[in-house]
Amino acid sequence: MKLNKTLTGIATFLLMTQLNAQNKSYLDQSKPLEERISLLLKEMTLEEKVGQMNQYNGFWEVTGPAPKGGTAELKYDHLKKGWVGSMLTVRGVKEVRAVQKIVVEETRLGIPLIIGFDVIHGYKTLSPIPLAEAASWDLEAIKKSAQVAALEASASGINWTFGPNVDVTHEARWGRIMEGAGEDPFLGSKIAKARVQGFQGDTKADLLKTNTIAATAKHFAAYGYAEAGLEYNRVEMGNAELYNMVLPPFKAAKEAGVRSFMNGFNLLNGIPVTGSGFLQRKILKKDWKFDGFVITDYSSIREMIAHGFAKDESDAATKAVVAGADMDMESYIYVAELAKLVREGKVKQELIDDAVTRILRVKFELGLFDDPYKYLDEKREKESIGTKASHEAVLDMARKSIVLLKNDKNLLPLKKSGQKIALIGELAADKNSPLGSWRIASDDNTAVSVLEGLQKYKGNQLTYEKGADVAPGKTTFIDEVKINTADTSEFEAAKTAAKNADVVIIVLGEHGFQSGEGRSRTDLGLPGVQQELLEEVYNVNPNIVLVLNNGRPLAIPWAAENIPAIVEAWQLGTETGNAVAEVLYGDYNPGGKLPVTFPRNVGQLPVYYNHYSTGRYNNTDGLVFWSHYIDSDKTPQFAFGHGLSYTTFEYSDLKIEKPEYQKGDPVKISVKVSNTGNYDGKEIVQLYIHDVTASLARPVKELKGFENVFLRKGETKTVNFVLTDAELGFYTNEAQYLVEPGTFEIFVGGSSDKTLTSQFELK
Ligand code: BGC
Repeated sequence: MKLNKTLTGIATFLLMTQLNAQNKSYLDQSKPLEERISLLLKEMTLEEKVGQMNQYNGFWEVTGPAPKGGTAELKYDHLKKGWVGSMLTVRGVKEVRAVQKIVVEETRLGIPLIIGFDVIHGYKTLSPIPLAEAASWDLEAIKKSAQVAALEASASGINWTFGPNVDVTHEARWGRIMEGAGEDPFLGSKIAKARVQGFQGDTKADLLKTNTIAATAKHFAAYGYAEAGLEYNRVEMGNAELYNMVLPPFKAAKEAGVRSFMNGFNLLNGIPVTGSGFLQRKILKKDWKFDGFVITDYSSIREMIAHGFAKDESDAATKAVVAGADMDMESYIYVAELAKLVREGKVKQELIDDAVTRILRVKFELGLFDDPYKYLDEKREKESIGTKASHEAVLDMARKSIVLLKNDKNLLPLKKSGQKIALIGELAADKNSPLGSWRIASDDNTAVSVLEGLQKYKGNQLTYEKGADVAPGKTTFIDEVKINTADTSEFEAAKTAAKNADVVIIVLGEHGFQSGEGRSRTDLGLPGVQQELLEEVYNVNPNIVLVLNNGRPLAIPWAAENIPAIVEAWQLGTETGNAVAEVLYGDYNPGGKLPVTFPRNVGQLPVYYNHYSTGRYNNTDGLVFWSHYIDSDKTPQFAFGHGLSYTTFEYSDLKIEKPEYQKGDPVKISVKVSNTGNYDGKEIVQLYIHDVTASLARPVKELKGFENVFLRKGETKTVNFVLTDAELGFYTNEAQYLVEPGTFEIFVGGSSDKTLTSQFELK
């Protein structure tokens, strides 16, 4: 034992002597991390520093011959010079090892790459799209889903994800609504924390493990408010809205220890966020004391020229680095411009040192300097991806993400035997669309389809008819999806099947590639001929269960009015069909709640529950002069927080402990929730507040608490909430957080539009 220790001591001494001789003392693990960073920084040339701020997309068959010509050759050359700090979208142990080996073995300092990838809703085994996951309001399950994604991605050599997307949005037209947690900053903050901790672990030390990856909060900030829901569009917003609605999930991610932030493509009040010192330097790095790094969005430094904000590449580089963008994703601009700009005295050396320090810090925290190949283990890659445990986790997440929007005739759950069931809809048999949008590492056609899920239930007679194509032809992540707007030739067969059935299950909605980046829509109805199909099938058999597939809120007023049962099944990932079948047959009692408002029509947009009053919100005199539409109801089709169960819940005894509180005192609220139906089930109990009068008008309702409660039939539970200053205040336009005295209304219920109400005074 003693001899062992002595030998280890000698070995360490020899290694350190050798490292010091090579000036590689930053590799000495016994030194504090910050010291290791500054030791390394001292060794680096300006070009090597700038190189750390440069990220390239994957480019050539890295395990094949060296590239000749074009950007591939340039990237290869830069890798060998140590001018690349990170690569994205290189995946697989063999491929990652090939690029890592170049920088570790062929460059002077051997600084390892950090390998980024869009692990957004799973890696190979896919979870539901993030918006769907948010409908579970189940933070443990969401965290678990991110853990599975991290496990699979890290086994494939990746150590950094560009997620979670924490963009709050009110825009159903915007395709990237599928990537976030919906419209609410409170729910969004809780989910941001769960996702960050799922990817990274609970503490910084967890980053050293091989099954965690660094996370990114994106897109900083306000991208979700793209004007008219048009992708990459401008955003105009006052500070109060920014601080109260947009920033909270980012702040929560920061507090959960997220190691990077990504800026974005949008302008915020005329300034590209990539060039915004207000966001990146002031708010993020100064006010919030964030010590990780900022990665730009893909080529967003270059896009500042097209925005009309930067004159040329050199101007763009200067503006981005001054604003606090630390790493350039695929603009080729930092690597081309920064060293020159520093030498000319146009960019301060400290800015470069600050950016590089941040990037190196995360690399050290991940343990990449101690072992650049730590994620690269073929055996683990083989054994950890697509396991039974991964499938179980994403199935659990999929079940929990389903929202029962309507169940009028008690068509659901389906009887298990003696029924003739007609299953209709191309999406019902689709094994690709349910995988969603961000699924680069997963194989096409690997989802369990709804058809396959239902076929496992043998007691009924199941007939399948497509009815109509939704998106004929090949669909991909990078191409426009072509929609069938004309071919109704298979309607008749579907109608015949429907006519002969006791119950019709019809799966309609968007293809998985109709939402996501670059996929804004102006029409939120069922794409193509699907509405027509639905109405024709209804005419022959109105006993319809409509299963919706979509990556955004849809506007389906006819269906909401006429179809007796509607199940929101989003795109649920690899295990889609199993989850949907279990819910339809009642083996899983759905308990999800909408994390976004569903409009009646696109003209209502933006429509969201935490809106403001107007001076004339309600009609008091029967005249026309009040806030309304003359051609549509202004209320949503389905409210934020809405979601049914096969059982029923009743709320009673809403109590606030005292009628008056002093500022700073915890406000204690309780409510009784009873399961009054015939099934055990889960209810998400929601607490909203309204600050009735304030120096800045406040939304009519704001979510400030929720609890997932499981109740056996006949059971009653008391649910308790506590409100503190953290929930009762708001930010002013000067970014000051105020908790103001006055009356607060409290609403508790199973949806934002169905609540019990009480109030208290804050003195
Ligand atoms: C997206 C980012 C993504 C990046 C890298 C961009 O187009 O906006 O969210 O992380 O590409 O794939």
